[in-house]
Amino acid sequence: MAKERYYEPAPDHIDVAEFRKVVDSRRSVRKFTDKPIPADVLNDCLDMALLAPNSSNLQQWEFYVVKSPDKKAKLVEACLNQNAAGTAAELIVIVARTTSWREHARMTLEQWPQPTVPKIVQDYYGRLALFYYSQGPLGSWGLVKRGIAQVAGLFKPVPRGPFSATDMKVWAAKSVSLASENLMLALRAHGFDSCPMEGFDEVRVKRLLKLPKDAFVVMVLGAGERAKDGVYYPRLRFDRRRFVHEV
Ligand SMILES: Cc1cc2nc3c(=O)[nH]c(=O)nc-3n(C[C@H](O)[C@H](O)[C@H](O)COP(=O)(O)O)c2cc1C
Repeated sequence: MAKERYYEPAPDHIDVAEFRKVVDSRRSVRKFTDKPIPADVLNDCLDMALLAPNSSNLQQWEFYVVKSPDKKAKLVEACLNQNAAGTAAELIVIVARTTSWREHARMTLEQWPQPTVPKIVQDYYGRLALFYYSQGPLGSWGLVKRGIAQVAGLFKPVPRGPFSATDMKVWAAKSVSLASENLMLALRAHGFDSCPMEGFDEVRVKRLLKLPKDAFVVMVLGAGERAKDGVYYPRLRFDRRRFVHEV
């Protein structure tokens, strides 16, 4: 008997023009009005951020919505007093975790959304994920994996990482960046704007939020209503032929 497959149809119609409007009109806004973002809107945007694709569905992200006025003032300072931070109605610190994958692998098996966990899923989150993502004491297992990949890679295609703490940071940052973009587009779709910032003092931001050792700040997002003069310059993008290659 043929195996019964999960089936999730795509919606029939999506308005591309509206989607393009959201993508096109997202600009980095450096000056916001005083208008607050309603809590339900911000929560909806955060929920859409959490729907971003992410490596092995291990959901490496955390979002810290900074509410306390005292913390907010300190965060603005840590963001080098940038206008985009100082005028933002909301400041969201977007964080990547490089160790939460262990717990999330366990949670995947506990919370699998079907009555039985498929064998391939059990194997992946029960065994293979550990093989791929643990790096061992002082990175020792990562070094072993790198060696294995170098030899095995002579004969067949093999994964070339993550083999180090730095690789794990890159691994986590990819997924967290995608969630960040979801958040920015969701804010735009709700009529609000944002500015991603990497101009901040990470040591101070980590201390302020008491972040664990493995956490690192991917960006701080200022969000709010665009002030009339909130976009400083017209958009500049280079010719697409520089970036898009058909090979
Ligand atoms: C990772 C990242 C870090 C950024 N850091 C800052 C920043 O610290 N301050 C700022 O004003 N803009 C920052 N930006 C915004 C960029 O300058 C902006 O995206 C770029 O100039 C393109 O403009 P656009 O977003 O309006 O299309 C950052 C953007 C990204 C993606």
